[in-house]
Amino acid sequence: MKTSKNNLLFLFINLCIIAVQISASHAEEERKPYIVYMGELPEDRKFLIDEHHSLLSKTIGDELIARNSKIHSYGRSFNGFVAKLLPHEAEILSKKEGVVSVFQNKVQKLLTTRSWDFLGMPLTVRRKRETESDMIVALLDTGIWIQSPSFNDKGFGPPPAKWKGKCMKAGNFTGCNNKVIGAQFFKLQNDGQEEEKSPADSDGHGTHTASTAAGNSVHGASLYGIAEGTARGGVPSARLAIYKICWIMGCTDMDILAAYDAAIADGVDIISVSLGGYPRDLFEDPIAIGSFHAMKKGILTSCAAGNDGPDLETIENVAPWILTVAATSIDRRFEAPVTLGNGENFTGIAINTFEPKERMYSLTNGAHAQNISGNPVGNISACDYGTLNQNKVKGKIVYCLGNGGQDLIIGELGGAGIIMSNEFTTDIAFPNLIPGTFVSVNDGEKIDKYINSTRSAQAVISKTITAYMTAPFVASFSSRGPQTLSSNILKPDIAAPGLDILAAYSELTTMTAEQGDKRIVKYNIISGTSMACPHASGAAAYVKSFHPDWSVAAIKSALMTTAKSMKIKPVGAELASGSGQINPRVALHPGLVYDIQYDNYISFLCGQGYNKSAIAMLTGNKKYNCSSFPVAKGADGLNYPSIHIYLNNSKTSFSEIFYRTVTNVGIGKSVYRASIRSPKGLSVTVVPKILTFDSPNQKRSFKVMVKGKFLRESSWVLSGRIVWSDSKHNVRSPILVFRS
Ligand SMILES: *[C@@H]1O[C@H](CO)[C@@H](O)[C@H](O)[C@H]1NC(C)=O
Ligand SMILES: *[C@@H]1O[C@H](CO)[C@@H](O)[C@H](O)[C@H]1NC(C)=O
Ligand SMILES: *[C@@H]1O[C@H](CO)[C@@H](O)[C@H](O)[C@H]1NC(C)=O
Ligand SMILES: *[C@@H]1O[C@H](CO)[C@@H](O)[C@H](O)[C@H]1NC(C)=O
Ligand SMILES: *[C@@H]1O[C@H](CO)[C@@H](O)[C@H](O)[C@H]1NC(C)=O
Ligand SMILES: *[C@@H]1O[C@H](CO)[C@@H](O)[C@H](O)[C@H]1NC(C)=O
Ligand SMILES: *[C@@H]1O[C@H](CO)[C@@H](O)[C@H](O)[C@H]1NC(C)=O
Ligand SMILES: *[C@@H]1O[C@H](CO)[C@@H](O)[C@H](O)[C@H]1NC(C)=O
Repeated sequence: MKTSKNNLLFLFINLCIIAVQISASHAEEERKPYIVYMGELPEDRKFLIDEHHSLLSKTIGDELIARNSKIHSYGRSFNGFVAKLLPHEAEILSKKEGVVSVFQNKVQKLLTTRSWDFLGMPLTVRRKRETESDMIVALLDTGIWIQSPSFNDKGFGPPPAKWKGKCMKAGNFTGCNNKVIGAQFFKLQNDGQEEEKSPADSDGHGTHTASTAAGNSVHGASLYGIAEGTARGGVPSARLAIYKICWIMGCTDMDILAAYDAAIADGVDIISVSLGGYPRDLFEDPIAIGSFHAMKKGILTSCAAGNDGPDLETIENVAPWILTVAATSIDRRFEAPVTLGNGENFTGIAINTFEPKERMYSLTNGAHAQNISGNPVGNISACDYGTLNQNKVKGKIVYCLGNGGQDLIIGELGGAGIIMSNEFTTDIAFPNLIPGTFVSVNDGEKIDKYINSTRSAQAVISKTITAYMTAPFVASFSSRGPQTLSSNILKPDIAAPGLDILAAYSELTTMTAEQGDKRIVKYNIISGTSMACPHASGAAAYVKSFHPDWSVAAIKSALMTTAKSMKIKPVGAELASGSGQINPRVALHPGLVYDIQYDNYISFLCGQGYNKSAIAMLTGNKKYNCSSFPVAKGADGLNYPSIHIYLNNSKTSFSEIFYRTVTNVGIGKSVYRASIRSPKGLSVTVVPKILTFDSPNQKRSFKVMVKGKFLRESSWVLSGRIVWSDSKHNVRSPILVFRS
């Protein structure tokens, strides 16, 4: 009785709100959400929300509209708010005192077991369990399927004392535990989708990335027996804090900032962000802004580099305080071979979970299975929807040209399998709804010829097997540098496995999330820089568990200067892999680090042309301007662990100086010598060539003169490196000169 009355009341309030929204929506037709970013928090936060209101109503000129237009105030870790504005109001606001930037809310996208062994971190790797279990790794993603064995809290004590976060138990999310100590969701504005509002992962992506960064060790994990082994994260004893910000429609800027606002104040150690989408100015980018405030508190953000490779200048998430992570292969590949009736075999690449039931199946192609009575519009050899005759497909394997997706069509027609060929499928193993595989264009032509040559063509597609191969190489899809925002900083920073990664998955979705797929899986194999990013996050947490007092830049430097170079290394490889593939065990003892303090970043921003008012807001002190933060000397003005020259406008010769300072993080006395490797045309001089340290934490400075000339009109990149070595450590920095 009581419940139903409450329900009625609730319904009534809801109706009122809807009515208000309808009447208001007319006047607000063109208002769109903008983020008003105001930099550091003021010392006194009591009037923060009032200030947001007053700023808004002065701009809009109407108290009521101003009140209705505000969506959210940030104020736990930085200052700012979100409001629905007209373009001219946004313009006015951007010029107001106290405002760093105003930008329209956009939607970003997700950048879709053996990997840790491959990285030289076997199960038995030395760990600091006490401090590792105090590490809190935050994921800004699609939520989590906490029921996965990867997140079981058996053996975990209560959350570390520093933890101040929340757990939002709702819907399919059954509540936190001592492994997943926090879980929140952020959806500041309704996007019209009827999705359950809870931290539960209905997509699988967030569960996958969380378990890669910090999942438990789970024996016997596999996808239908494929990739069987122990699935685990980089820091299995660490805790997870989940911030769900990605929904069916994507991940909005305002929600990303809300998650940062919370995560920094909650006391996390590392933030893992496997998403991106728009190249833009640093302070109009929620990930750059959020990670800037996180960096100030010693929290490293690791980000996916983007999936728009192999084209150049596609890299995302390039702020110098972010660890930008490219995706590499590990030393195995998933093959689903094809055997034809004539005994010939072909290597196919795919995640094929289906064991063939028969020795051989009839084989056909689009041309032979064409629906002649119909009047098909579409590409017959690509098996487009509506072009094939069901009777000629049923029970057969069909060969189709194309990029994938035809498995659904052939499956609906009752086909027994599909062989696809295209020029793009070179490295990723994709899943299919029916037995299926991808072959090269060359092999595809041979298969097609065989089909044409006989009336009784036959084939069988094997279940996926694991093949071993030379690695690492950078995945084709991984976004490439150079970046143009702060053009003498090399990005990506580093590379980590992101190709065909097995990790935990959500049981609220299916293996492919395609219509008709009934395969609910505990572990799934997917690819993307999204998968590389949490490997780097886990590695960063591992380093931090040994060195809890290290700055963000010191951890980055340790990971970068100890990284391994690619086994397969095309010209300009650094634009794809940065310093190389993470090598976490060696990163514990880098010998020297290139440290960067908060003030150095402010100086850097001054050098980039950020003006007085922006600097004052970022630092939270009105008295500060760029004369308080002298711009550092040198071509990049930042003590970065890599060296990069971006040559604009078809210049062919160059001459730049880079100033660097290294800090001794070794045990004590040591002597480091510089060695240089450089190709013809590139001259690198280091002064001094020897650095002597008497004690830990001592700093030594040197300069690097990079001069040269592109000798051929067609050459566009010159790469070398500088290595500082004592008897135990090799501290490597790539040097890359790029000509646009
Ligand atoms: C969550 O749980 C309910 C049933 O309790 C179900 O109807 C819903 O579809 C579930 N899945 C998601 C993704 O919300
Ligand atoms: C093709 O593979 C099958 C199964 O692995 C094997 O028995 C056969 O000998 C192979 N054929 C050729 C021509 O290599
Ligand atoms: C052939 O195409 C026609 C027209 O689109 C369709 O009605 C018919 O069902 C198709 N026949 C088969 C056997 O798929
Ligand atoms: C059909 O699709 C394939 C693969 O996408 C393409 O190579 C071919 O040119 C297309 N044919 C026609 C007639 O459009
Ligand atoms: C097989 O036959 C079809 C239809 O006649 C034709 O389009 C295709 O090019 C042939 N394939 C090869 C490899 O000759
Ligand atoms: C290259 O030069 C053009 C034209 O001078 C300029 O607009 C652009 O910003 C420059 N790019 C970089 C990365 O410096
Ligand atoms: C500082 O830069 C912002 C954005 O580029 C601009 O709107 C503002 O007018 C500038 N302020 C000063 C004092 O130059
Ligand atoms: C910048 O700060 C210095 C020292 O605080 C001050 O003397 C100077 O007037 C300031 N410059 C501007 C342009 O405000």
